Formats: sequence, C-alpha cells, structure tokens
Amino acid sequence: MTATANGFHAPWELKHGPASPLPREIELDRLREIVPLALAPEPEHSPAPAASQNGHHKEPVNYDTRRRVQAASLPVTEPVADAEGASDKEAYMAGVLAKFRMHLEERTRHHLGYPYNLEFDYGALSQLQGYSINNLGDPFIESNYGVHSRQFEVGVLDWFARLWEIEKDDYWGYITNCGTEGNLHGILLGREVLPNGILYASHESHYSVFKAARMYRMERVKVATLITGEIDCADLKTKLEANKDKPAIINVNIGTTVKGAVDDLDHVIETLKEVGYTEDRFYIHVDGALFGLMMPFVKKAPKVTFRKPIGSVSVSGHKFVGCPMPCGVQITRLRHIETLGRDVEYLASRDATIMGSRNGHAPLYLWYTLNRKGYRGFQKDVQKCLRNALLLQSRLKENRFGAMLNELSSTVVFERPPEEAFVRKWQLACQGPIAHAVVMPNVSVDTLEEFVEELVESRARAFPDGNIVVPCIAEQIGEGNCMCIKHSPLAE
Ligand SMILES: Cc1ncc(COP(=O)(O)O)c(C=O)c1O
Repeated sequence: MTATANGFHAPWELKHGPASPLPREIELDRLREIVPLALAPEPEHSPAPAASQNGHHKEPVNYDTRRRVQAASLPVTEPVADAEGASDKEAYMAGVLAKFRMHLEERTRHHLGYPYNLEFDYGALSQLQGYSINNLGDPFIESNYGVHSRQFEVGVLDWFARLWEIEKDDYWGYITNCGTEGNLHGILLGREVLPNGILYASHESHYSVFKAARMYRMERVKVATLITGEIDCADLKTKLEANKDKPAIINVNIGTTVKGAVDDLDHVIETLKEVGYTEDRFYIHVDGALFGLMMPFVKKAPKVTFRKPIGSVSVSGHKFVGCPMPCGVQITRLRHIETLGRDVEYLASRDATIMGSRNGHAPLYLWYTLNRKGYRGFQKDVQKCLRNALLLQSRLKENRFGAMLNELSSTVVFERPPEEAFVRKWQLACQGPIAHAVVMPNVSVDTLEEFVEELVESRARAFPDGNIVVPCIAEQIGEGNCMCIKHSPLAE
C-alpha cells in the first residue's frame, strides 16, 4: 500500500483483512508526514530572508498555499458495498480522525498569534451534540422550529446587557456567528437609523468594518491613529468638520486587531459634541471583539456602557470567553431594531439578524462558561493575561527584540521573526515588519519562556555570522520600544 500526499492510505487501496489498530502515540516529528497541511512542506528552518539595511526582510510573503492545501486534502469517496470493505473504511476514517485530533493538540499547544482562549472543558455538553439546534429568527420571538435554545440565548444576552448597563426592557441582541457578524450588524443598524450617514473608522479597524462599508455601499472616511493604534481624535475632528452636513456613524475599537489599542470612547463622544453633532445625528458602534470582555474587569479602564450615547456593542465568543466554535454577541437598543426587523410568516418570527439559520449550540457553550466562571472568574483570567503579557514584553526586550504592549492590553507587538517556519510554528499574525502574540488564559508562563527561547535561536540562525541586525520598527511601535541600533539604549 502506498501512502498518499496527506500521509493516509487511500481507502480504495485497503485490502480486506483485519483493520489496522488505531494510533495511540505519534511523535510530534511524525505529524509532518501525517497531517502536512499546517506543518509541511517547509524545511524545518527556512533560510533567513536577506536582511535589508534596517534589518526588515524584503521577501514578499507567499500567500499562495492553494496547491499545498489541495495536495494535502483528504478525499471523499463513495461508501464501500461489501461488509469487509465497509469495515476497513470505517477503520480508515477512525484512524484519520484520531490522527487529526493529535494534530489539533499539537497546534493548540503552539498557538500565540490569534486572540483565542483555547482552554475550556465542555464535556458536559457532549450529550447535546446529537441535536440540530437552530435559533433561526429573532431570539425573543419563537419560531415554529422547536429544536432551539432560545432560553439559553436570552439568558446569555441578559448577562451581557447587565455588563454593558442597559435595562432588560430597553435592549435587543442576538448571538452571532462571530465578531465580524456583530460589526456587519452594528454598522447596518447605524445606516438604517441614519440612512445618509458617513462611516468613520480608524485605519487600525478590523477589515470587517471596511467590508461593511463596501457591502452597504456607504460613504466612509478613514481616520488616522496614534502610534499606539488608538483613534486620533484630532484627525477625527477635522474629518467630521469637513462633512458636518451628514450624520456620522462611528466605529470605535475596544482592542484593535494588530496592536490591541483601545479607542477613547469618551473623547470620541466629546469630539462629536464639539463639532456640533447632537445625539440624533450620530451612531456609535463599539467593536469589542476581544477586549469587550476584558475591559470591564480592569479596574481603571474606561467604561463601555449604554449609559453613554452608543448604539451597539459586539464581542466575539470564541476569543476571551473561549468557545470551541466561532460565535459572538451583539447588543443594541430595542428602538434601533425596529428600523431593521421584518416579520416573516414562514418563520413565525422576525428577521432582524444578518444570518437566517443560527447556531443553537453556541448559546449553550456561552451559557455554560458564563455560569461557571462568573465575573470573578473573568477578572482572574484578565489579571493573569495582563501579567503574562507584561512578562513576555520584558523577556523580549531583555533579548533585544523591539516590543510594545499597550496599557489595558494583552497583545504584545514585536518585530516580525525572520524565519517563516518559526512564524508558522507559533501561528503568529504578521503585518509588514511586525508580528504580535496575544496572551490568552491558556498561555502559560512556560509556553512564553519556550517561545522566547526559540525566537532567540531562530534569530541567531538568520544571522549565521553572528552579526545580528535588529530592525528599526520605531514607526510601528514608537522609538521608546524599538531596539534597533539607533533607538536602543542596549545597543553598543
Ligand atoms: C477588532 C476586531 N474586530 C472584529 C474582529 C472579527 O472577529 P471574528 O474573527 O470573530 O469575526 C476581530 C478579529 O480578530 C478583531 O480583532
């Protein structure tokens, strides 16, 4: 039998006979052969790209992974007719899944780049997996489909409404598929409330905000940011003044994607008022994808609350909360949803969401974890993440890597590692000359120490003559955080 590109034997090649035993232990090195998708075929240590004068690598990133992914894909084949062949196929599929599970375990251990809390235990919910739970329609209006989990969804929404200080009778919300859907919904609400409004969003806003503007064909204005990544209210003011005749729909970031910066909501509101916008002429959507659930638990952090004139807040459920599937929460004012919702007889419910069918399992996961952790549990998680992020920043700086950590943030921004294999191993998110690590509750001090140690080794390989060039990333993270020869006090 020959192994295919993905390391499994093709089912049509299986000979009749006893099924091969399921794999128990696979050494990590063998994972490259078994599930090559995420690990192969790059060499263990890809050559360091040529360093330019300032140490930034010049090579364009290769986004064309299509052929690699196709070569590693696992084929779908027709069921085998005879009993023996069928049982071989079952064994083959069980083997594939067992190996894939090991692959996931390894990938989970080496993950730092995306803001996902990978630590959870939802064993109690496995009994519900056999049900097609669908909350299609409005969470507050039961549809005719009975296999739903609205009672859990509304319980979760009430929890978030309390967190963001809006009365039960004044809010509307739903559990979304992700933070992106929350942004698409919040900005759509803004446009429905203020149909000829202009969308203002900072350069550092998530791409879904600009996608919303394209989808809804909205006029949009990009606003400059400070070095921290926070919206520059002076620039916002200039741009609002230039378009005073039109209402303003503003996306405010509570945690930007790359730098983890928190926009100053109070300053944005003040700026609107200074320019002469009354509350009926602006709509603020707060994108709190990650920090929306961290900030309420940081003592001195500015507050996101519906006591301020905001229109909607969204957060991702698979980020800080830690859900095994993408999901999110969107909360808005009840009066705003009246402009968007349409009754649908076929549903016997109201259509006010972006999607039609809605994942009815996600509310169960959220409900379960909110009940188990509670406010105190989240507070502890937040404290741990902020502390560990500080530790990572200081370890990086000790080793002469430029690194920035915003206040209130657990996103550590640092110079992009020169080896792509290293970036892939740790699943780092990169943008130009910088990368970031997001310290989530599942990231332990040991993992961070291992990461820094490997980063130091990786950089040493990139400069085999021993003359390490530390890149200048002052433009991205500020001179005070940069460790290049010009800006670092440690440089000889
Ligand atoms: C600031 C911000 N908003 C929105 C999103 C989108 O969230 P999701 O991935 O849940 O769609 C992200 C994702 O990282 C984000 O960082």
